[in-house]
Amino acid sequence: MTGKPHPPSLRAELESLKAQIRRHDRKYFIENQPEISDPEYDRLLNRLRQLESDHPEWVTPDSPSQRVGGGRLERFEPVRHRLPMLSLDNTYSEEELRAFDKRVRKFLGAGQVAYFVELKFDGVSVSLSYEGGRLIVGATRGDGRTGDDITANLKTVRSIPAALTASSKAGLPRRMEARGEVYMPRAAFEAINRQREKAGLPLFANPRNATAGSLKQLDSRIVAERKLAFFCYGIGEREGGGALGSQAETLAYLKSLGLPVNPHGKRCGSIEEVVAFCREWERKHRQLDYQVDGMVIKVDDLAFQRKLGATAKSPRYCIAYKFQAEQARTRLERIEVQVGRTGTLTPVAILTPVALAGTTVSRASLHNADEIARKDVREGDLVVIEKAGEIIPQVVEVVKSERPAGAQPFRMPGRCPACGAGVIRDPEEVALRCESLKCPAQLKERLIHFSQRTAMEVEGIGDVVAEQLVLTGLVKDPGDLYTLRKEELLQLERMGEKSADNLLAGIAASKQRGLARLLFGLGIRHVGAASAEALAAAFGTLDRLSGVSEEALTEVEDVGPVVAASIRAFFNSPENRKVLKKLEQAGLNLQAERLEVRSGRLQGEIVVFTGELERYTRSKAQELVRRHGGRVGSGITKKTTLVVAGSDAGSKAEKAGELGVKIISEKAFLKRIGEGE
Ligand code: IVH
Repeated sequence: MTGKPHPPSLRAELESLKAQIRRHDRKYFIENQPEISDPEYDRLLNRLRQLESDHPEWVTPDSPSQRVGGGRLERFEPVRHRLPMLSLDNTYSEEELRAFDKRVRKFLGAGQVAYFVELKFDGVSVSLSYEGGRLIVGATRGDGRTGDDITANLKTVRSIPAALTASSKAGLPRRMEARGEVYMPRAAFEAINRQREKAGLPLFANPRNATAGSLKQLDSRIVAERKLAFFCYGIGEREGGGALGSQAETLAYLKSLGLPVNPHGKRCGSIEEVVAFCREWERKHRQLDYQVDGMVIKVDDLAFQRKLGATAKSPRYCIAYKFQAEQARTRLERIEVQVGRTGTLTPVAILTPVALAGTTVSRASLHNADEIARKDVREGDLVVIEKAGEIIPQVVEVVKSERPAGAQPFRMPGRCPACGAGVIRDPEEVALRCESLKCPAQLKERLIHFSQRTAMEVEGIGDVVAEQLVLTGLVKDPGDLYTLRKEELLQLERMGEKSADNLLAGIAASKQRGLARLLFGLGIRHVGAASAEALAAAFGTLDRLSGVSEEALTEVEDVGPVVAASIRAFFNSPENRKVLKKLEQAGLNLQAERLEVRSGRLQGEIVVFTGELERYTRSKAQELVRRHGGRVGSGITKKTTLVVAGSDAGSKAEKAGELGVKIISEKAFLKRIGEGE
C-alpha cells in the first residue's frame, strides 16, 4: 500500500476492530471456544488503542478498550435497586431439599413441580442495568435495597458485555436488569496471591474475598488487572423483549443477548432428580476452574414463582443446597508461633503436606491458645483439616485414638519467639502479645504494612527486602527508610546496583503520599484506611493532629473513645515522636490533600447528619461541610452545634432535641452554604 490511509478508512478500521474484539470476547468468555491466540487478540486491542489515542473523539464508552479502567473515583455512589436483591435460604441435606419440595407443592397445590438447578457460584452478586441494549449502571447488592455504583469496575470485566446483542427473536429489551455473580477463576486467584506474597501484602483467604476486594477498589485500573469473570443467572426488572415462561427460557434468552450463562444448569422433573443432580455435582465440582459452594434450586415455572412470592428475606421459590466442606486427615508435625505487626502471637499448624480440595496443604491456622486448648491439639497429633470455602484451612478436630504416646499439651511460649522479650496477655483479646518496641518480627511486619499499596506504596519493599532491612539493623522504624544510602543497600544479599536505585526511587516517590496514607501506614492501633482519611480531612496536618485532645478526636466521623485513646497514646509516646520527627526531616508531605475551600459559612460548626439525604450522599455532604469551614461529627454530643435531618431521621434527631441542638432540614443546610438552588 502507498501513502497514508485517510481518516474515513481509519474510522472503518476502528469500527471493524471493535466488532472483531467483541466477537472474540464472546467466543472466549461466553462460548468458551476461542478462535485466535492471546497475542493475536492483544494485537487487535493494541491497534484499537492506538487509533483511539490518535482520535480521542472516536472513543465510545462501550469500546472494548475502555475495559482497562478509567481511573480513580472518590467514592461509590449509592444505587437504589428497583426490585430488592434478596438472599437465599440454605439447606445442607437431602432431607431438607425434600422438605422444601413438599412446602412448594403444598403451597401450589401441585402433584409434582419441575425445578431448574444451577451451580451456586461463590462470588459477589451484582446487578447490571441495560437500557436500549447498553450497560448503564452496574451495582453491588449492598443491603439488598441499596448497593454501590461500581459501573466503572464492572466495565473492566471482560465477560460482561457493554452492549447486548440483538440476535434473539424476542429482540432487545428496552430496559433490563440482569443479575448474576462476579467471580475470580481459581487460576487468577492463585496468581494474585503469589503476587501479593511477593509484595508482602496480606493474602486473600478465598476467591470470593478476592472478588469482593477487587470490586471495592476505587481505581478501576486495578480491577482491570484482576481477571474477574461473570455468570448471569436471572433478571430483575424488564421492559420489552417478549414473554418468558420459565427459568430455562430466561437463561436461554439471557444467552441470546450475549450474556454469559453457565452451561451446567439443568431442568429436573422431580425432587428426586434434583437430589441426584446435586449429588453428582457435590462429587465433581472441584474439577471446575472456579469455586462453587453449592447448588441453587429454582421452581422452573415463572407463574409458579410469582405465586410463591417471597418473605422479607428470600424468595419461596428457590433454595440453596450447600456442599459439605472437603476434609482430609494429616499429621500435625509441629506448632509454629508467628509474630504479627502489632506483636500478636499466632500459632500455626505445620502439617505433613496433604491434598485437599485442589491444593496441597502444609499449614493451617490455629487462631490462638484458647482454640488450641479447646480442641486439645498437640504436636504429633493426627488431625482433621477442612476448607470451608476458605483457602486457608482450619484444624477441625484431633483423632485422639491416633495420638502418639507421650504427646504433651501445647503451651504458648512465655517469651516472644522472634526477640525473646516477655509477652503479655492482651486484656481486650485472647491473644498474647510481644510488647517489645524492638522486636524484629514486628518491625518487619510494620515495615510491610507501611509500604503497602494502600498506605505509602513504597515500591520494592516486600517480604524479603523488609526482612533484610530489619535483620541487618539498617531500618529500625519507617523513618529510617528515608535516610538509607545506596552503599548500605548494596551490602544486602542479592541487591544489585539496579535494584538499589529502584528501591531508592521507590522510597523517594513515597514521600508524596500525603497525610491520610501516612496515618494508615503508621499502623496506629484501630486506625484503618477510612478513619485515617477522616482524621486527615478533619485536622489537615500531622502537626495539628498530633496535638489535639482525645475529646476533639472523638468528634471525627467513626472515631470513638477507644480509637481516640489509641491515637493519643501513639502521639504521646516519645519513641513514636522520634519517628515522626525523622519523617518530617526527610521532607515527607505531612498535609492532607487539600479540599478547595468555598466559604467560611460553617466556621466553628460541628455538624452531624442523620436520616436519609436526598440531594447528596452522606460523604459528599460531609465534604461540603469541610469545604465551607465546618467540622463533621459522628454522634450527637454537647459539642454538636448543628444537626441536619434527612427523612426518617429517628433517634439521633430526638437526642438532638433533648440536648437543645439546632436541627435543620437538608434544604435549609444547602441554602445556608449557598449550594441550594
Ligand atoms: S439466584 C434470591 N442463582 O447466592 C437470590 N443466586 O446465597 C436468588 N448465587 O445472593 C439468586 N449462584 O449472589 C442465584 N445460580 C445462582 C447463584 C446465585 C450464586 C448467589 C447470589 C445470592 C447468593 C445467596
